[in-house]
Amino acid sequence: MRVLVVGSGAREHALVLALAQDPQVTALACAPGNAGTAAVAEQHGLDVQDGAAVVALARDWTADLVVIGPEIPLVAGVADAVRAAGFACFGPGAEAARIEGSKAFAKDVMAAAGVPTASSLIVDSPADLDAALAGFTPPYVVKDDGLAAGKGVVVSEDLELARAHAMHLLDDGHPVLLESYLDGPEASLFCLVDGTTVVPLVPAQDFKRVGDGDAGPNTGGMGAYAPLPWAGETLVDELVAAVVQPVADEMARRGTPFTGLLYAGLALTSNGPAVIEFNCRFGDPETQVVLALLRTPLAALLNATAVGTLAEHPPLEWADGAAVTVVVAAEGYPGTPRLGDVISGSDAPGVLHAGTRRREDGAVVSTGGRVLSVVGTGTDLAAARADAYRRLEGVHLTGSHHRTDIGLRAEKGEVTVPGR
Ligand code: AMP
Ligand code: GLY
Repeated sequence: MRVLVVGSGAREHALVLALAQDPQVTALACAPGNAGTAAVAEQHGLDVQDGAAVVALARDWTADLVVIGPEIPLVAGVADAVRAAGFACFGPGAEAARIEGSKAFAKDVMAAAGVPTASSLIVDSPADLDAALAGFTPPYVVKDDGLAAGKGVVVSEDLELARAHAMHLLDDGHPVLLESYLDGPEASLFCLVDGTTVVPLVPAQDFKRVGDGDAGPNTGGMGAYAPLPWAGETLVDELVAAVVQPVADEMARRGTPFTGLLYAGLALTSNGPAVIEFNCRFGDPETQVVLALLRTPLAALLNATAVGTLAEHPPLEWADGAAVTVVVAAEGYPGTPRLGDVISGSDAPGVLHAGTRRREDGAVVSTGGRVLSVVGTGTDLAAARADAYRRLEGVHLTGSHHRTDIGLRAEKGEVTVPGR
């Protein structure tokens, strides 16, 4: 099978590394890729949002399966274009990708499917903002209604800060979503969905805030671990039954079945699980830890999802133990990142690339806010954490920062689900 992966982050690096392990894969390409994917897959320049360009590349390269990593091309309908050209494609079409692209649409689907989520209100005019905010209690949750790479959300006790963020979004012409606050630990549950059948992967936890102890602003994700030692054996089945299957069924009922990876971002609250958000693709950085544990050949699995035969696929196999990833971010991230610095140690095993490029002189340089995602594994979370941080010591990027506490509270047994 010739597999073309579209995207250029550490998620895509993790995907191509896992695909390369599948004996069915005869050739791999990653477009546009980065300095890390280039070591495992052919690299092709590509504007990922340009459906015609993705189709042309799939044709020229004679792909058997096209895997679209990021949300932006999915929301833009690139998977529709690829399927219309006759290729098997992993990833939802534009209609189904609205589950991520429009938070208002996601709320509507959840309401129809009876799936618990935060109560919410859309505000599209500054004149309505104060009255709308008055209907909520702190902590305030203010979101951009569209795609914002994880950075459009402010969660704050401070009404003025919440108001200022909402005004800023409205001034830029973005509708604002106000939400009730959900307490309890967060979990990311990735499910393969082929329109009808839902197959969950191991649950993970992501660290969204930039600093240790969850300090500072939200980011695209600063680290993750899997599985969740505090979750209990039945949590995944409960979440599929209460959240993911009902949403997949509702999407199918609407005539826009979801195919690809449906990512439920959940808060495990004292009143039971509630959805924070859905994403229409593999999450980053959780993919780096989930795929580090997957033993089932990935290409056959993604292909079964793409062609609608998940129900016939054998049960998934997982490594024992745990995986941890720590993101190395450029100075300035999640604000304007400093770019173009030389990175050393990035060719070592376990070092996945996100914003990197190989210069003509062979040096690897930073090209984005999240630069690397260092992955460690071990027999348990403590061992995986130690392995990740040991690998991180071998990496150097001037001015970079990372969190030192990824998975630490779980390792210490400090994460608990209220009421469980
Ligand atoms: P989102 O972009 O919707 O995933 O939000 C980013 C992060 O903001 C989430 O991972 C949570 O940490 C936090 N967040 C979003 N919505 C809520 C909410 N209703 N209650 C509590 N925290 C939230
Ligand atoms: N880990 C958060 C995301 O992929 O959106």
